[in-house]
Amino acid sequence: MAATKPPRRPARRAAKPAAGRLQVLEVEEKLAATHAALVCAFHQMLDLKDLDTGCHSTRLAEWAVRVAEELGMEESLFQAVEISALLHDIGKVGVPDAILQKPGPLTDDEFAVLKRHSEYGWAILRLIPGFAAVSHFVLHHHERMDGRGYPAGLRGEEIPMGARVICVIDAFDAMVSDRPYRRGLPAAEALRRLQEAAGTQFDPRVVRLFSAFAGAELAAVAAAAN
Ligand SMILES: [Fe+2]
Repeated sequence: MAATKPPRRPARRAAKPAAGRLQVLEVEEKLAATHAALVCAFHQMLDLKDLDTGCHSTRLAEWAVRVAEELGMEESLFQAVEISALLHDIGKVGVPDAILQKPGPLTDDEFAVLKRHSEYGWAILRLIPGFAAVSHFVLHHHERMDGRGYPAGLRGEEIPMGARVICVIDAFDAMVSDRPYRRGLPAAEALRRLQEAAGTQFDPRVVRLFSAFAGAELAAVAAAAN
């Protein structure tokens, strides 16, 4: 079972807080610890379901946060981006194994069932206090810039920025990972395909930033993904 690095916790303030503030900080600390434990537990569950949560997913989550930082997203959303990167496909627990493990391309009907995973993921994660942004990013992680994605058919700026980041992460992860009926692509080829679909499927800024981080560490990516 792959070890899961807990998601980052909000930084503690250096200045000495007043008593009331100290209590608030303690509550925030406990909540952050609960969230971290929850993410680890979900990640272990995905691993048991053999849903491609190898050690590379932790690396992808780190890149997702770096992309979010470079994009100028609000700092309060960095943790949501990291958690979404780790758990974006959690809704696949609701998809039959016969489809997930099928040794060949899916039929249209099977693909329609698989596509429900983003809504299933939202339905699970939205129940957790403090996970509103996470569930929102997961719900929309298969939207496309040209509006031809799912589940809502959002286009361009309509798609939450965090979801645009996760979309690129998910696509890269899918391309480099082995499947029952095919070997994963080399990371360099996966990056080339991301760039080819920048502007239609993916946000070009996300692809550019992600490629810069991933491109610098290709060898490690390939070794971890296979
Ligand atoms: Fe997905």
